[in-house]
Amino acid sequence: MTRTPRCILITGGAGGIGRSLAQAFIREGDLVVLADLPGDRLDAVGAELGVAVVGIDITDAAAVAAAVDDVSAAHGPIDVLVNNAGILHLHGTVTDLAVADFDTTVRVNILGTFAMTQAVARHMIAAGTRGAIVNVSSIGGRQPTPGMGAYESSKAAVDALTRWAAVELAASGIRVNAVAPGPVDTPMLREGMPEGSPAREAWLSRIPLHQFADPAHVAAAAVFLASPLAAHITGVSLPVDGGQLLV
Ligand SMILES: NC(=O)c1ccc[n+]([C@@H]2O[C@H](COP(=O)([O-])OP(=O)(O)OC[C@H]3O[C@@H](n4cnc5c(N)ncnc54)[C@H](O)[C@@H]3O)[C@@H](O)[C@H]2O)c1
Repeated sequence: MTRTPRCILITGGAGGIGRSLAQAFIREGDLVVLADLPGDRLDAVGAELGVAVVGIDITDAAAVAAAVDDVSAAHGPIDVLVNNAGILHLHGTVTDLAVADFDTTVRVNILGTFAMTQAVARHMIAAGTRGAIVNVSSIGGRQPTPGMGAYESSKAAVDALTRWAAVELAASGIRVNAVAPGPVDTPMLREGMPEGSPAREAWLSRIPLHQFADPAHVAAAAVFLASPLAAHITGVSLPVDGGQLLV
């Protein structure tokens, strides 16, 4: 069955999970626009996937609002926003972490997600689009790992932002949900935890299904939450974690 392609805006689109998200929505027949920090990496992923790109820093609310206007002018009203951009490498214990690293994590993961949500929600309401927003959170927002608290605090806030936006935007027919992965098998993770390494085994021992999420697992959950199949689901943060939150 064919349907009208939706316009899907994916932030962090040049990253490991962003690329999988883009491929999954392209397979659905949708029109994808990737947003990420401007530069060669974004342009290369856009060219490789054959999709449009928009270079923005999501912490710059004015640039975000202008980019949302540009995307809708060029590609039509935005039907789905996937807030996937995030900082996930600034770690440290509560006694050691540099305040600047906490601040950067909070600005990108919380403020950036808020700025994108606000701009796209305003645009959807003005256009009368009964759209969907999917945030990429993390089970870390609900389960602590020593040294990862700044990141985890930011993802707990993303879950709260998801519920906040969901309850307010429901009246406009806009659904807001999140996907909360455990560790995802991206090139970055494979670099930090090579096959057979003690660090990798330690993580795997925490996961009942004994495997990391594949980026495609995360993308499939986002595609579902953005689809009419999830028409009565809003305000949830769906774990894609192999059962890690169970133990
Ligand atoms: N990889 C994992 O194990 C894992 C697990 C749970 C959740 N997540 C979440 O998934 C999302 C994607 O992670 P990933 O593994 O693909 O990481 P990644 O670093 O490959 O991708 C993140 C992307 O966000 C972009 N970005 C960062 N700051 C930005 C800013 N200010 N403005 C615009 N773009 C910006 C980066 O340029 C990058 O392309 C993140 O939100 C992350 O927290 C990842």
